[in-house]
Amino acid sequence: MTQQPDSGGFFGLAGKRVIVTGGASGIGHATALRFAAAGSRVVILDRDEKASRKAVEESPELVAWVRADVSQHEQVQAAFAEVDRLLGGIDVLVANAGISERSRFLDIQPTEWRRVVGVNLDGVFFCLQEAARRMVQAGAGVLLMTGSTNGLIGHPYYAHYNAAKAGVILLAKTLALELAPTIRVNAVCPGYVLTPMQKREYSEEMLAATNRRIPLGRHATPEEIADLFVFLASDAARYVTGQAVIVDGGEMAGGVASRFGTVAAGSTPADESDG
Ligand SMILES: NC(=O)c1ccc[n+]([C@@H]2O[C@H](COP(=O)([O-])OP(=O)(O)OC[C@H]3O[C@@H](n4cnc5c(N)ncnc54)[C@H](O)[C@@H]3O)[C@@H](O)[C@H]2O)c1
Repeated sequence: MTQQPDSGGFFGLAGKRVIVTGGASGIGHATALRFAAAGSRVVILDRDEKASRKAVEESPELVAWVRADVSQHEQVQAAFAEVDRLLGGIDVLVANAGISERSRFLDIQPTEWRRVVGVNLDGVFFCLQEAARRMVQAGAGVLLMTGSTNGLIGHPYYAHYNAAKAGVILLAKTLALELAPTIRVNAVCPGYVLTPMQKREYSEEMLAATNRRIPLGRHATPEEIADLFVFLASDAARYVTGQAVIVDGGEMAGGVASRFGTVAAGSTPADESDG
């Protein structure tokens, strides 16, 4: 069996130049720190100046942060030019910046639709294209993005968000075909993750009710999503491309059935009324 050369250790991430969008908070922040711990040179791209400054001050292993609103094409172009100066190239992009708004479909105004799709889909496209152009020229690279289980099945009150995340997943699959064999492209699809985004939208009661429906009984931590990004960027995943990889504590395993709760240990079918 032939094996591609491993560029140093099992993960081979030492010295890799990595950009994480939305790297000032939640999943992006945890991901930036995980790559830095693996020896990568990491720049975070975010629009939140205060949180970004704090992130870099608290973690000097991060190279820098650059400011951009990913939904604004010119800002993304300027940010990537700045990253060129800081890192001299890009080996890995994690296109993760996103926003979530919870609204009934009938109430969504065009401005809200544009805001959510602008950040979550346009923003991913702008960053992927900037990174991919550089990677094609360099002859190698890994593109990763944050999808969601919301991009795979319907969830009420998130029509714009879900449509954008479904778009992100199909971007990953399409680019994996167009950019192979030079660039690997994968989407990570988290289920429920306890981040500032989730805490803004869910009351304690909603969090507890959600936990009861997740087979592993709890939300993911941001670090548990970060670990998957690190794996997918690494040499250990060198044959993985075009995938939407789900990390959801089993939420999707039962399809629709899993939404009605999990089976309590020791219970019998007669104890479960909601199947
Ligand atoms: N938290 C969850 O349960 C969950 C589940 C599935 C997918 N996701 C996805 O994970 C990603 C990260 O979410 P999170 O939960 O860590 O959220 P978060 O709010 O904790 O962090 C999001 C980060 O993105 C930045 N950001 C937002 N809009 C931006 C823009 N226009 N330009 C640049 N930066 C911007 C924010 O400043 C923030 O630092 C998002 O794409 C989200 O949709 C989250």
